[in-house]
Amino acid sequence: MHRKMQMISEQLDFTGKVAIVTGGATGIGYATAMQLAKLGARVVVASRTVEELEASAERIQRESGSPCLGVPTDVKQEQSCIALVQRTVDEFGQVDVLINNAGGTRMGPLESIPTRGWHAIFDLNIHSAYYCTREAGKHMIERRRGSIVNISSNAGLHGVKGGAHYSAAKSALQTFTVVTAAEWGRFGVRCNCVAAGMIASPRATGAWKAAGLEPMEMASQIPLKRPGEPDEIANMIVFFASDAASYITGQVMAVNGGPALGGIPLE
Ligand SMILES: NC(=O)c1ccc[n+]([C@@H]2O[C@H](COP(=O)([O-])OP(=O)(O)OC[C@H]3O[C@@H](n4cnc5c(N)ncnc54)[C@H](OP(=O)(O)O)[C@@H]3O)[C@@H](O)[C@H]2O)c1
Repeated sequence: MHRKMQMISEQLDFTGKVAIVTGGATGIGYATAMQLAKLGARVVVASRTVEELEASAERIQRESGSPCLGVPTDVKQEQSCIALVQRTVDEFGQVDVLINNAGGTRMGPLESIPTRGWHAIFDLNIHSAYYCTREAGKHMIERRRGSIVNISSNAGLHGVKGGAHYSAAKSALQTFTVVTAAEWGRFGVRCNCVAAGMIASPRATGAWKAAGLEPMEMASQIPLKRPGEPDEIANMIVFFASDAASYITGQVMAVNGGPALGGIPLE
């Protein structure tokens, strides 16, 4: 079956589409939600801090001219994810795009991670994606269309010291991406993953400062010699979510300023 060729700019148009962005009130999620809305999508942003969520939704709607709804959600809770997808369908009639972005970690050495902390990181970074994907997937499968993007990390690709739980959960998210793509391709539903490097989102920057870490020093091993910005991750997420990526599914794309390799020191 031949597709009609379109310009990439047309394929990046989200007019008529509905997108859910978990963790969409801040950082990478906010940058993604703003881009999607400016490209014409009706967007639902979901997180726990209600005041911040409402302020972000209001700003996205004002700056983009597209409807944006904040739905208070705790993605660790299955019922909350079910309610998020249901509210989206009730308000906007459909769900075309799901961005499983809510995530994060509390760093600590493996020998000190309590069982509760281990489970909390899995609940936040992988179980949440399963709940939201399963629920949004029901609607996508029924309509025979949809695009899901999961947000992983360098930790999911290679592991990070101090993040045994986070690394394992993000790795699981990457494999979940591949299996979702393999199973749901037959329904016209794509699933991809962006593995972000060191990104200077406001909360990450605050955490580095609190831990006494110097960002440019940490970035010295990155070939591009700087942390990334949230919108540089959003660009890849939006591309995967769009029709411009119509033949791409099951992929994990690193957006991290390049590979940090061992070897001889170079000026
Ligand atoms: N920044 C980096 O260097 C970096 C690197 C690699 C990967 N990542 C990944 O990128 C994603 C976004 O991170 P970011 O840097 O943009 O940081 P961020 O601003 O802290 O984003 C996390 C978002 O998720 C929301 N969230 C956290 N727990 C939640 C819960 N239980 N239910 C619903 N929402 C929840 C937060 O809002 P509330 O707290 O209000 O709920 C927040 O909006 C995460 O998955 C992170 O693991 C970040």
